[in-house]
Amino acid sequence: MKVEIELNRDGESNVIEYDYARRAADEKPMILDVLLQAQATDIPDLAFRYGCRARNCGVCTVDVNGRPRLACRARIKEGDRVSPVKTLPPLADLVVRRDGVARQMRGRLTSVAQGNNLNQDAPDDYHALTACVECYACLQNCPMHARNFTDGANPNPSEGYQWGNPFSLLKLQMLRLDPLSSDAGRDQALAHAEDLGLDACRDCKGCKCGVGIDLMGKVVRPLLEAAGE
Ligand code: SF4
Ligand code: SF4
Ligand code: FES
Repeated sequence: MKVEIELNRDGESNVIEYDYARRAADEKPMILDVLLQAQATDIPDLAFRYGCRARNCGVCTVDVNGRPRLACRARIKEGDRVSPVKTLPPLADLVVRRDGVARQMRGRLTSVAQGNNLNQDAPDDYHALTACVECYACLQNCPMHARNFTDGANPNPSEGYQWGNPFSLLKLQMLRLDPLSSDAGRDQALAHAEDLGLDACRDCKGCKCGVGIDLMGKVVRPLLEAAGE
């Protein structure tokens, strides 16, 4: 089964065709199976990330035909093209820099917790948001995130991106719903969402989550409503 793999090396991208050897005639391999076999055979220096192999860690996300997919859970077909996610800067082959998103929270939330009473129940919406696996698939088509790279901007991921994305908003909304958060912490989380560009969500048709979280209903709308109060 032939697929295309986009390699990114020294700032240049190069698409190579890889012929996957099926272990059974009816095998429908996951993307990760193909990458592991390619690395074990024809492309020993192929760079890609994976961790849990069970849809838990989110680090294996790649684009397939331009759409983000979890490599350990999505099947691949003849002729598909695997490439690095286009919403983040490429590092090597299929590996991209994820730190610019993770660092958006750094140093911005200073008075979040109020005590340590773990016997308080969190609301259902909080539990729904814990399903996030941090795959960053929701960055695709997010106009807020795209602002980080428009007009030739070349942000330094080590400093954290200026503008947010659905994942960042989800984390901030979790802080607002967490029963252990202080009132000041909830205010800080909302203010940070506004600083990250929450206003862009007013004119956006919406976010899509790779694992099916209702981002509009449980993250974006509650934040916009709170910001409007
Ligand atoms: S919100 Fe969904 S798409 Fe975004 S990082 Fe979390 S699991 Fe992935
Ligand atoms: S609703 Fe907001 S967070 Fe979601 S894609 Fe649009 S701009 Fe991004
Ligand atoms: S390897 Fe952890 S989600 Fe794919």
